[in-house]
Parts: sequence; C-alpha cells; structure tokens
Amino acid sequence: MKKILILIVIIAVLGLVALAGTAGHQVTTTDAFCSSCHAYEKASWDHGVHHAVGCLDCHTGGFVRDKVQGARKMYLVFTGQIDPHHDRLASYPDKTMSNCMSCHMNDEIAQQRPVFMERHSLYLVAAENCIACHEGGHVQQIRDKRYLAVRETGD
Ligand code: HEC
Ligand code: HEC
Ligand code: HEC
Ligand code: HEC
Repeated sequence: MKKILILIVIIAVLGLVALAGTAGHQVTTTDAFCSSCHAYEKASWDHGVHHAVGCLDCHTGGFVRDKVQGARKMYLVFTGQIDPHHDRLASYPDKTMSNCMSCHMNDEIAQQRPVFMERHSLYLVAAENCIACHEGGHVQQIRDKRYLAVRETGD
C-alpha cells in the first residue's frame, strides 16, 4: 500500500516538474503554496518587516535547485518522514544571504550609503551571516512555536 502511495506521489511530482514554466510552475511559486506546509513561517513572516517580500525572493537557490528540492520535500512529507508543521528543518542561512544582499547591498545602495556598506563589511568579519544579527524574514519567537506543535504525520 505504502509503495503504491509513494509511486503516485513521485508521478505527481514529476508531473509538476514537467509543467514547469506553465501552470504547475505558477502554482508552486506562490506564497500560499509555501504556506500550506509552512504555517508557522507564514505567521512569523506576516508579523515581520518583510511581509511585502515574497517567500521565494529570499528562499531561492535558482530554478533547478528549487524544483529538485521541492520534489524531495513533497516526497518526505507524503511518506510521513517529516512533518513541516512540527519538525526541525534543515537551515541554510548562507544560501539566503546572497538574496538579502541583492536587495540591501546592491550597487545603487553602495553608492548612496558608503558608510552603511563600510560598517557592514566589518560586521561580516565578526559574524558569519545576516541573521546572526537580524531576524531577516521571520519573527524568530513566532517561528519557533512550531516546535511546540503536535506531530501529525508518520505511522
Ligand atoms: C509539501 C510540503 C511543502 C511545501 C509545499 C513547501 N515546503 Fe518547504 N519544506 C518542506 C519540508 C519537508 C522541508 C524539510 C526538507 C529537508 O529536511 O531537507 C522544508 C524545508 C524548507 C526550508 C528550509 C531548508 C531550505 O531549503 O532552505 C525552506 C527555507 C523552505 N522549506 C521554504 C519553502 C518555500 C519558499 C516554499 C514555497 C515555494 C515551500 N518551502 C514549500 C515542506 C514543504
Ligand atoms: C526577508 C527574507 C525572508 C522572507 C521574505 C521569508 N523568509 Fe523564510 N527564512 C529566512 C531566513 C533568513 C531564514 C533562516 C535561514 C534559512 O533557513 O534559510 C528562514 C527560514 C525559513 C524556514 C526554515 C525554518 C527553520 O526551521 O529554520 C522556512 C521553512 C521558511 N523560512 C519558510 C518561509 C516561507 C513559507 C515564507 C513566506 C511565507 C518565508 N520563509 C519568507 C528569510 C526569509
Ligand atoms: C526583495 C527585496 C528584499 C530582500 C530579498 C530582503 N529584504 Fe530586507 N527589506 C526589504 C524591504 C522592502 C524592507 C522594508 C523597507 C525598509 O525599511 O527599507 C526591508 C527591511 C529590512 C531591514 C530593516 C528593518 C527595520 O527595522 O528597519 C533589515 C535589517 C533587513 N531588511 C534585513 C534583511 C535580511 C537579513 C534579509 C535576508 C534574510 C533581507 N532583508 C532580505 C527588502 C528586502
Ligand atoms: C554583526 C552584526 C550585523 C551583521 C552580521 C549584519 N548587520 Fe545589518 N545592521 C547591524 C546594525 C548594528 C545595524 C544598525 C547600524 C548600522 O547601520 O550600522 C544594521 C542595519 C542594517 C540595515 C538597516 C539600515 C538602515 O539604516 O536602514 C539593513 C537593511 C541591514 N543591516 C542589512 C544587513 C544584511 C543584508 C546583512 C547580511 C549581508 C547584515 N545586515 C549583517 C548589524 C549587523
């Protein structure tokens, strides 16, 4: 039974990937789609300073990586291995960082605010990434409530 389910999921995922660039791609890049699995991240984002910035503006590693990662996540959820509403998830703050910089440290800002840029080059010697000092995207306290939720998947 479980094998059949896994097979159905894989076919569905491959279908979605095949649709990339058309309807499937549009559905899987909306904030609402992300929030269906990441309700706590949605709430913590709503209350942060970045509620006008889309999930994928910060969380992208490029089209191909996003799709492969997305298919893997669906597999993990539908086979009950990970409950995204409860479990601790992998975190890649360095991956997010280049997206932070493309908005906050682009050429225009470098020209307009040299002092800000100078101070930050020192900050980044002292700390590994932006979220060592900034909440950047989520109000941490709200996001971390996820760990208190009851685990729903798994058999
Ligand atoms: C079907 C449920 C599901 C959907 C829909 C989903 N995710 Fe996830 N997400 C997961 C799971 C499961 C993990 C943990 C993956 C792992 O441990 O490798 C995860 C991990 C993550 C992570 C942390 C790891 C990383 O890759 O940085 C981020 C960020 C993330 N998801 C963002 C998103 C965004 C943005 C979207 C919408 C484009 C989205 N998710 C849609 C289930 C989902
Ligand atoms: C302004 C940038 C920004 C926006 C917008 C944003 N995030 Fe994040 N998010 C981050 C950062 C930074 C982290 C911590 C580092 C990491 O895991 O990439 C994070 C972490 C996560 C994680 C991993 C949680 C964990 O356990 O560590 C998920 C899942 C996630 N975000 C989903 C979302 C979803 C869904 C949205 C949209 C509703 C969203 N994010 C919007 C910056 C952002
Ligand atoms: C798509 C563009 C975009 C991305 C990506 C982005 N931001 Fe922002 N950021 C904004 C906007 C818009 C604001 C709110 C307007 C403002 O205060 O300038 C903001 C505000 C901020 C502020 C000021 C908050 C305050 O209290 O005034 C900080 C700090 C910040 N972002 C850090 C980050 C970090 C860290 C990341 C990466 C995790 C990130 N941003 C990613 C657009 C972005
Ligand atoms: C070591 C701590 C530290 C790190 C790391 C850090 N910042 Fe900051 N950031 C600060 C402090 C302190 C301020 C307020 C004073 C200032 O501008 O220097 C600030 C201010 C900001 C502001 C608001 C500027 C304004 O006045 O509107 C933005 C946006 C910002 N940082 C983005 C980032 C981004 C993006 C990264 C990662 C590339 C980052 N910061 C890394 C400490 C840090």
